[in-house]
Amino acid sequence: MPDEVHQALLDHFELERHIGGYAAEAQADAREGARKAAAKLLGCDPEEIALTESAQSAWAKAFYSFSFREGDRIFCWASEYAGNAVAFLQAAKRHAKLEVLPMRPDGIVDLDALEAALKSLPETARAVVALTHIQTNSSVVQPAAAVGKLAREHGAVFILDACQSIGQIPVDVRSLLCDFACATGRKWLRGPRGTGFLYARASALNHASGLVGEPPMIDHVSARWTQSHVYKLAPDARRYEMWETSPALHMGLKKALELCEHVGPQHIQRKSTGLAAALRQKLASIKGVRCCDAPASLEEAQVEGVSRCAIVTFEAFSDLGITSEAIKGALAKQRIAVSVSPPFHTFNDEDWRQPSVVRVSPSYYNDESEVDVLAQKIKGIIETLSENSGMRAP
Ligand SMILES: Cc1ncc(COP(=O)(O)O)c(C=O)c1O
Repeated sequence: MPDEVHQALLDHFELERHIGGYAAEAQADAREGARKAAAKLLGCDPEEIALTESAQSAWAKAFYSFSFREGDRIFCWASEYAGNAVAFLQAAKRHAKLEVLPMRPDGIVDLDALEAALKSLPETARAVVALTHIQTNSSVVQPAAAVGKLAREHGAVFILDACQSIGQIPVDVRSLLCDFACATGRKWLRGPRGTGFLYARASALNHASGLVGEPPMIDHVSARWTQSHVYKLAPDARRYEMWETSPALHMGLKKALELCEHVGPQHIQRKSTGLAAALRQKLASIKGVRCCDAPASLEEAQVEGVSRCAIVTFEAFSDLGITSEAIKGALAKQRIAVSVSPPFHTFNDEDWRQPSVVRVSPSYYNDESEVDVLAQKIKGIIETLSENSGMRAP
């Protein structure tokens, strides 16, 4: 977290302590400030932003407002985020029919399969198309605009999980043609934990398909109590919000969004993907290590809107007996933070048997020398751990 984000949190907590929560909130205008900053970054209107506690809650608030009828379809790909996938499985237990579309061998979502599926939709069925823009442990930026175009042409609702893309690469929700998109504060935006937001396109709230219904839970912010037995939903994305929030967190999120805007998403993308590419190159020269954030054939793919991002994943050769958890632990001892991504959480049965991978996410605040140090450390760790296990890196 950058100092200025940290300071914004502290300042607001101090203000609350001195003048009280309500007075501090009135003075800071945290909620509207964060909303405006999010809208600016995404290229939409502030009224199209709902502030939430996380990307997952933003996504769920939108998804659970879809009023599925028997036979309606959910189209997604195997690359969908686990938290969303379980919601699809739940919806499929009720009314909707889930169709997991094939991925291409180069790791890109199969657009032809989506087009064919949308074309063969029965007349009475409505459809939701779901895409995870960047998967948790993949470097493939999926062609969201092309998916949005197909969804729009066929009258489907398009919900985009942009949790790993917003703050990492430029995301313009209008040109991606999505109806809903979710974001988190705590990752690439470098904002506080416990923050996120939902983009809900103004006209998507009255989507022509009739699929977008009321939020599953409302209060007197999501809706106005207009007469003793009548309520009116907020006319915009605020229908996905509730009364109580943490203004301090919103002050932190606002600062993080403004910082992202100031540094520039293009610059952030260029710098972080450059560092990631350098890291992959160095990992390739370490014996016993294999990079696995994208199939090799992705390099030859010529699909508009597809690129490679700054998520790098790797694993030690299986015969070395070195787990990704052990690599993470050894790096943590040297104050290098990486994460381990489990292989399961996928619609592909074979993938559940794969080992975990180490995930490294270089940010724009890192530099080449840190990438060098990291690669050196990984090399040393592999050598030490393979000696300890009695195996040698090939
Ligand atoms: C693709 C994707 N979507 C959604 C989420 C959920 O984000 P949060 O936990 O901030 O809600 C994650 C978290 O790793 C993610 O990688």
